[in-house]
Amino acid sequence: MDDDIRALEAAMLVEIEGRLQGFKKERKNLIPMLQMIQERYTYLSPDALQMVADTLGLALCEVYGVATFYNQFRFHPPGKHHMKVCLGTACHVRGGDIILENFERKLGIAHGETTPDREFSIERVACVGCCALAPVVIVDETAHGHVAPSKVEGLILGFQIEKEKQAREKQENGS
Ligand code: FES
Repeated sequence: MDDDIRALEAAMLVEIEGRLQGFKKERKNLIPMLQMIQERYTYLSPDALQMVADTLGLALCEVYGVATFYNQFRFHPPGKHHMKVCLGTACHVRGGDIILENFERKLGIAHGETTPDREFSIERVACVGCCALAPVVIVDETAHGHVAPSKVEGLILGFQIEKEKQAREKQENGS
C-alpha cells in the first residue's frame, strides 16, 4: 500500500468515526451503520468494521458475521480498472472460468478482491446480456466479446503501459 492510499484510508477513518457518533449506540443500528459506510466509501475496510464493533460494544466477529451475511456489502475497495468476468451459462460453456482464472493469476488476487495498488479489481458476474459474444468480459464500461484466455494479459498490459506513460510524463513535466 503506498503513502497516498494510507493517507486516504486514515482520512476515511476519521470521517467514519465522526459519522458513527450520529447514531445511537444500539445494536439495531449495526446494519444502518454498515450501509452508511458502504454508501459513502463503497466498501467496508477491516478498520471500519472494528470501529463499528467498538462503537456498539460488539465483538468484531459478530459485526463480520452480519456484514458477510448480506450480498450488498463489499470488503475491498473497487480498483481503478474493474474487470467483470461473465460466468453466465453461455460464457461458462465457452471458457469463462478459464478467463477468470487467468485474470486472477495475472493480477495475483481472487475475484471480489482488489490489487494492493488499487489499480485492478475482479468480479464474477451473471449473464450481462450479450451471450452471442461469449465469453464476455466487461472492462470498466466496455464489453469485450469472444475473449480468448491469451487476451487477458494484453488487456492488463494496456493499462499498465498507460500508467507508466502517465508517470513518465508527470515526472518530465515536474522536472
Ligand atoms: S452468459 Fe455471458 S453474456 Fe450471457
